Amino acid sequence: MSTTNRYLWQHKDLLSIEQLSSEDIFHLLDLAQSFAEINRRPVRKVPTLQGRTVILFFVENSTRTKTSFDVAGKRLSADTHALSLSGSSLNKGESLLDTGLTLQAMNPDVLVVRHSSSGAAAFLAKQLSCGVVNAGDGWHAHPTQALLDCYSLRQAWHDNFADRTLLILGDIAHSRVARSNVQLLHKLGVNVRLCGPRTLLPPCVESWGCHVYHDLNQAIEGVDAVMCLRLQLERQQAGLLPNLAEYSRRFCLGPMHLTHAKQEVKILHPGPLNRGLEISDVVADAPSSLILNQVEAGVAVRMAILYLLATRK
Ligand code: CP
Repeated sequence: MSTTNRYLWQHKDLLSIEQLSSEDIFHLLDLAQSFAEINRRPVRKVPTLQGRTVILFFVENSTRTKTSFDVAGKRLSADTHALSLSGSSLNKGESLLDTGLTLQAMNPDVLVVRHSSSGAAAFLAKQLSCGVVNAGDGWHAHPTQALLDCYSLRQAWHDNFADRTLLILGDIAHSRVARSNVQLLHKLGVNVRLCGPRTLLPPCVESWGCHVYHDLNQAIEGVDAVMCLRLQLERQQAGLLPNLAEYSRRFCLGPMHLTHAKQEVKILHPGPLNRGLEISDVVADAPSSLILNQVEAGVAVRMAILYLLATRK
């Protein structure tokens, strides 16, 4: 599915998948596909966003999201500037709002925000006139991750999402990646299954519209793709897991599990990986693994997002 020439992107901010129509999603993915070609050239830079400014405001740790937004901005010739919690005056007691207003006073076109509190990016978006991207807020949403996952699946599945089934495996309760992916995959007509221990499933999981499993061998039967989630190790301290060995025995995705899936099953993981805990080395490094494709897609998808927000009329 491709969008027509009459299409117009109308969003000041990108805060969640819920705000996007199917037309928005496919327009963004098509644009990302056109930018992906730039990333394979010997000289990986175009002047498209020359003179534009992007600020990366990351109050939580990040390797993939922060670096790929930085690379994406630079490949389009935007000026990118990064601010982290440790180097910011948040550590001197400045509020989130005052920090946002301070950054806005420098006239950026786009502010990319990661924060541990759900709703932090939406809060700033309401107060600021520049475009705001939610790069992950608490357990709530990680829309750019879901979009790059979808981009990777679109390539692997040759644009055919109908009648596909994807299993999300692991710590779903605390995962903003799971929430955003369920919303996006449902918009595209993908059947989504969830599997994990009862203590790591959200309380109202029935309302997500997915089939829920606690047995991995049953959950994986006949699926087209498995998305493993990082086990957030701090959950064990909170008493939600008996012990890591038990978790790994029941939920670590290994090669034997894949024999129950479709032969051409694809493996995804948003990263960072706990190898041997939620995913085995053999599966993470298998030819069917899209994990590094996801990282590569992240640059192209974030180029498209920066372009759409920075050039919106
Ligand atoms: N997937 C993801 O958000 O990774 P980072 O925390 O490294 O950005």
